[in-house]
Amino acid sequence: MNKTELLSKLWEQYAEITPSAKKIQDLLEEKGEEIKNDHIAIRTFNDKRVDIKVIEKLFLEVGYEEKGEYFFDSKKLFAKHYEHSTDKNAPRIFISELELEKCSPKLQAIVKDILDSCDPEIFNTPDLVLSGAVWKTKSLAIYNLLLEESEYAAWMYVYGFRANHFTINANALKGFNSLQDLNNFIENNGWILNASGGKIKGTPAQLLEQSSTLADMHSVTFDESILQIPSCYYEFALRYPMSNGELYQGFIAASADKIFESTDTKFMNNN
Ligand code: NI
Repeated sequence: MNKTELLSKLWEQYAEITPSAKKIQDLLEEKGEEIKNDHIAIRTFNDKRVDIKVIEKLFLEVGYEEKGEYFFDSKKLFAKHYEHSTDKNAPRIFISELELEKCSPKLQAIVKDILDSCDPEIFNTPDLVLSGAVWKTKSLAIYNLLLEESEYAAWMYVYGFRANHFTINANALKGFNSLQDLNNFIENNGWILNASGGKIKGTPAQLLEQSSTLADMHSVTFDESILQIPSCYYEFALRYPMSNGELYQGFIAASADKIFESTDTKFMNNN
């Protein structure tokens, strides 16, 4: 698989459960914009069978290189970001993993059971990152147990290995002067933005501003019943130049911490 195929498959899977993303793209394209992606985010667990080292393989093979590392203490997450070595227009890849040893014994046991239920061969398949929820069950009871402790783990259980969100590169848009401007456009067209920590996370002084929609709701068939639960959101990122004149390329942990909440029903109900 080459880079273009990998990125377009990630987009197809994401757009399928996130109809808002395609609609927002269409709206911007109608205004004459050409959409570029700032980054694509992927979630996993830090169990050795599926941790960042496993998920990153395919990206390294298609020319991505490791760049930054981030800790999100309150969410018990560790993350790395990757940039493409030759294609400067390729989106960054942001892979995070839930640090299981910091979670309760109950959550650790559930995640172990979920992974143990899989044919171990599945973890060696090169395109694991495109495989979704590869486990045998999709139990509402397990989803709810995970949700009590970690929205991240619950999302991972239902959706598995795939893009969690795409992010529009706001620097590449021509018709907006600021992220606020873009936010207004999105809101005026009927979307609700994630307001946790303010609608704009980060500041020009931090060299990165980010905002995002709340995740779409998606109908999921659990073993017990069918339920609407949050799928994925669309993010917007505006980068500022560093003192050398080049745009900042990294991420701000405090901002991403709040962005993670875009798939959290708790915050949706409050908005
Ligand atoms: Ni993001």
